[in-house]
Amino acid sequence: MTADHNPGYAEAGRSQVDAAAEAEPAGFRLADESESYALRVNGRQESVKAAWLGESLLYVLRERLGLPGSKNACDQGECGSCSVFLDGTLVVSCCVLAADAVDAEVVTVEGLEPGEGLSDVQRHFLDAGAVQCGFCTPGLIVAVHDLLDRVPDANELTVREAISGNLCRCTGYGRILQAVADVQQERAGTGP
Ligand code: FES
Ligand code: FES
Repeated sequence: MTADHNPGYAEAGRSQVDAAAEAEPAGFRLADESESYALRVNGRQESVKAAWLGESLLYVLRERLGLPGSKNACDQGECGSCSVFLDGTLVVSCCVLAADAVDAEVVTVEGLEPGEGLSDVQRHFLDAGAVQCGFCTPGLIVAVHDLLDRVPDANELTVREAISGNLCRCTGYGRILQAVADVQQERAGTGP
């Protein structure tokens, strides 16, 4: 996904990921298990050990830290399924170097709601039937949280623009838009 696709997304790290992938030198891995870097994810300090420094944040979240909520549907910044917050900014995590997220606060779809429950956006996606295969859903939910936190009364056009970088191949978007409207009504206290 590029800034042209969706101005709500940051371009963080895309060029570094591409460059690192092309230039992976033989010795670029951290030497052994005793070497590591730390990431702060969903309020927890996580240690990443013996990893290639050019790995994407998405790869590290899914494959090293056991957080599979962020999906990998394109690995090229085009679909939005891997969306997370990086220091409060919406980014596509496949285009961010994990090493660049050191000292930043990462929030994934698993960390949107502290505790065991669902966030209001997650709940209304389920209630509205806005989930079919579910591959796009985590990224959409993160993007909707981002939008409604910034623009609580976003109109439908603004919602459509904000999620234009989140590709859904199943739903036709109607139920997704309904879910967003339901969240807005509930937050405004005007719901049924
Ligand atoms: S935008 Fe990251 S997997 Fe598609
Ligand atoms: S529910 Fe299948 S891609 Fe959106």
